Amino acid sequence: MTKKQIITIAGGGSTYTPGIIQAVLNNADRLPLSEIRLYDIDEQRNDDMYLIIQYMLKKEGFKDVVISSTEDPEKAFTGSDFIFSQIRVGGMKMREKDEKIPLNHGLVGQETCGLGGFAYGMRSMNGLLEIVGYVQEYAPNAWILNYTNPESIVSEAVRRQYPKAKMINACDMTISIEETIAVNYGYDRKNWIPTYYGLNHFGWYTSIYDKELKRDVMPEIIEKLTTQEMEVADFNAGDKTWQEAFSMMSVITKNFPQNIPNNYLEYYLYPDMVVEHADKDYTRANMVMEGREKNTKEMAEKIRDGATEDILNFNFGEHGQYIVDMATSLLNDERRRFMLIVPNQGAIPNLRADAVVEVPAYVGATGVEPISLREPISDFHKGLMEAQVAAEKLLVDAYFEGSYQKALQAFTLNQTVPNARVAKNILDEMIEANKEYWPKLV
Ligand code: NAD
Ligand code: G6P
Ligand code: MN
Repeated sequence: MTKKQIITIAGGGSTYTPGIIQAVLNNADRLPLSEIRLYDIDEQRNDDMYLIIQYMLKKEGFKDVVISSTEDPEKAFTGSDFIFSQIRVGGMKMREKDEKIPLNHGLVGQETCGLGGFAYGMRSMNGLLEIVGYVQEYAPNAWILNYTNPESIVSEAVRRQYPKAKMINACDMTISIEETIAVNYGYDRKNWIPTYYGLNHFGWYTSIYDKELKRDVMPEIIEKLTTQEMEVADFNAGDKTWQEAFSMMSVITKNFPQNIPNNYLEYYLYPDMVVEHADKDYTRANMVMEGREKNTKEMAEKIRDGATEDILNFNFGEHGQYIVDMATSLLNDERRRFMLIVPNQGAIPNLRADAVVEVPAYVGATGVEPISLREPISDFHKGLMEAQVAAEKLLVDAYFEGSYQKALQAFTLNQTVPNARVAKNILDEMIEANKEYWPKLV
């Protein structure tokens, strides 16, 4: 009998927590559970989530599962088996600045891409390294399953400071793309073995083998993408921003029909179109604050008021299931295949070995086993990736060395930036806006 597991959610107050816990409860046969701990630095958000999760456990009949919320890392991590990490250093208020500052200078303003992503990266490295440090101290045998963004940057930072950490870095975007394609064009994703390479939020599919149909379905999907735009599916269904992002996949595919792209490439390949469509006074952060964040507060409020019906209001989809599948794969040696963010080390043979890349990997009792693509990638993809990797590495250098010069080089090299003058203007404004969070750069 597998020992009942203790799961700690770092960033317990995240609006994604109910969806993740729902997936944990749905998979209790594969992931037996003794305890859920919510760890956050914001007591109010953590307390709200405590009420919501307590309500869910009761509703689903999990009487024996212990739940706690704490701001004390020792209590949160000691004895824990799995840490699901999803923190957002600076919260949505700082996300809003990441998006609006570059937009005010006419550049892409986005959570994880462009200079917004770089500003977020500088904040996030600090918060995530602190958590990884706590886990090394209080739960050195636990696995950290990380969703905290921007993934490429924080993965590079963790790789440098804690190269032996038991940590898996993952992004839900590929699974969400696959689900959306399958729903729109009438496939069953469960039959798929997709192959993909890139950096996080910066990659391409090379094939999608369908086990039932016994063929690579990528060419026919590309054909469909160029003629018939997709409707957003999965946990983002009905969301206008995501609809636009998925529509951009058709634009990319029409112009570059060799591969299915990750939708996030829109920020690097069509920054002008993205900026044209953006509202610099009302960005994604505003939508999320008025949507998911408000819904979460309302759920907690209703529970405090003693309401018992129609309380739960959150998106449930592949995001929670994906991280739970990773945990069960480790625990039960299931050897499932995921797209994971790992040091390259030859997986993409003609890309620098020390890049952090996103490629298929099998997960089992011994950890992560990435596959090697064997074939070299094209100059087009390689050129785009090399520049992006170098920019990200310079940013991580800037963080560890406290170097203004490296930060300026990183900002200048970012693929959404047309010149060093605007890079410097935005960097200086970001330093001011992030005083509380960034290391001092000299
Ligand atoms: P959120 O702001 O709703 O929640 C994040 C929580 O983290 C907040 O409650 C906040 O108080 C807490 N927090 C901040 N700094 C902390 C620290 N140092 N220690 C502990 N807790 C801290 O944000 P969200 O929208 O739920 O997103 C959470 C994170 O997950 C973000 O980094 C986001 O980019 C990421 N995310 C990643 C994926 C992926 O595919 N990799 C998907 C969705 C979200
Ligand atoms: C996808 C990406 C995440 C990103 C999230 C943003 O899930 O994979 O990396 O954080 O979208 O979604 P939001 O609804 O907060 O804009
Ligand atoms: Mn992601």
